[in-house]
Amino acid sequence: MATVDNRTAYWEQAREQGFDLSWLSQLEEHVAGQDVEEVSANNTGRVQGSIPRNDVAQFGAYTFRTKSEVWAYNLTKLYEEFITRQWSSATDIPWETIQPLPDDIEAAQCQLATFFTQVEFVASDVPGRFLSTMSPDYQEVRLALLAQVMDESRHLDVFRKRALSNGGGLMRMTDSVSDVVGGSTDNAREFTEFSSRLHITGEGNVLTLFRLGEMMAYNEAEKTIYRRCAQDEARHVAIGVLHLRYMNEFAPERREEIHCYLDEGETRQSSGAGGENPAGRNQLTSEALAVLLGGGKDKVDEGQKILMAIRQRQTKEYFQRLKSAGFDDRIHNGRVNPVLLEQYKAAA
Ligand SMILES: [Fe+2]
Ligand SMILES: [Fe+2]
Repeated sequence: MATVDNRTAYWEQAREQGFDLSWLSQLEEHVAGQDVEEVSANNTGRVQGSIPRNDVAQFGAYTFRTKSEVWAYNLTKLYEEFITRQWSSATDIPWETIQPLPDDIEAAQCQLATFFTQVEFVASDVPGRFLSTMSPDYQEVRLALLAQVMDESRHLDVFRKRALSNGGGLMRMTDSVSDVVGGSTDNAREFTEFSSRLHITGEGNVLTLFRLGEMMAYNEAEKTIYRRCAQDEARHVAIGVLHLRYMNEFAPERREEIHCYLDEGETRQSSGAGGENPAGRNQLTSEALAVLLGGGKDKVDEGQKILMAIRQRQTKEYFQRLKSAGFDDRIHNGRVNPVLLEQYKAAA
C-alpha cells in the first residue's frame, strides 16, 4: 500500500525559502475581541468606532449584525499573516524551470490547473458575497474575507498561467463545483453554513493536496505554486476553524445545526459528489492526479494507490480540524460518516 510520508527534505527546503506556518500555534491563545459589540445597530456603513450621526439613511441593511453569527478568535493576528505573506504569480514563481513534458503528464497537469482555476474562482466569489452583508462593526471578519478574496484571485491567476505556460492549455471544466444541490458552498446563505462548507471541508481537502504538491509536481515552478498556495490555504482554513471554535463556545445552541452542515460536507467528501475535492473518487481531477502521482498514463494503478493514501490523509487532517474546533464528539458518538471513519482508521 502506498503511503504519504512527511517529505522532510522538501519541507526543509521550503522553510529556507520562507515557508512558515509557526503562526498557527499562536492562534491557540484566544483573543476573543471583547471590545466588539454583541449586536450591531450600525446600518449606515459607519466605520467601526466612529461617531454616529442621526438621520442618516439606513442603506446598509446588513443581514449579519450579531457578533455570534460571524465572529472568530484571533482574526487580527490572522489578518497580519495574510498581509505579510502576499506574493506575485509574475515574480515569485520560477517559470523558467518548466520544460517540455510528456503529453500525458502535461495534459494531466493542465486538467488539474483548469480545475483549480475554476474552484479558486468559487472560493473568492462566495466569500465576496458575504462581505457586503456584514455590519462594518465586525471589521476584522471583513478584513479576513477580503484578504482571502485577494489570495484566491492570485491562485486563480497562477493556475491559469500554469495551464497556458507549456503547450497544454485550459482543459475541461468540472461540471458540479458550483452546483446548486444540497450542501454546496455556492448555495450557502448563512455565514456559518458557508464557512463550514468552504473553509472546513472544501479548502481543508485542497490544503492537504497542496501540502503534498511535491508528489504531483514535475519542476520547481509547480512545487513553488503548490507550496505557496498551501501557505495561503492554511489561513483560509484557519478562518473556519477559529469561527467554529468561537461558535462552539458562544453559540452552543447552534451546535446541532453545525453538525448538520458537517454531515452534508462529509457525504460529499466520502462520495466525491459535488466535485469540490480534486482527489475525490471518479473525478476528472482524480484521473489526472493518478497520472501525475503514478508517473504516466501507463502507471495509473500506482497513482490510484497513492491517491487512496492522500484521501486518508485528507480525512485525518479533517478530523484534526474537528478536534481543534470542538466538534470531534461526532467522531466518537457514531455520527461521523462511516467511510471517513474507515479512512481515518486506515491512516492512523
Ligand atoms: Fe485558493
Ligand atoms: Fe482558499
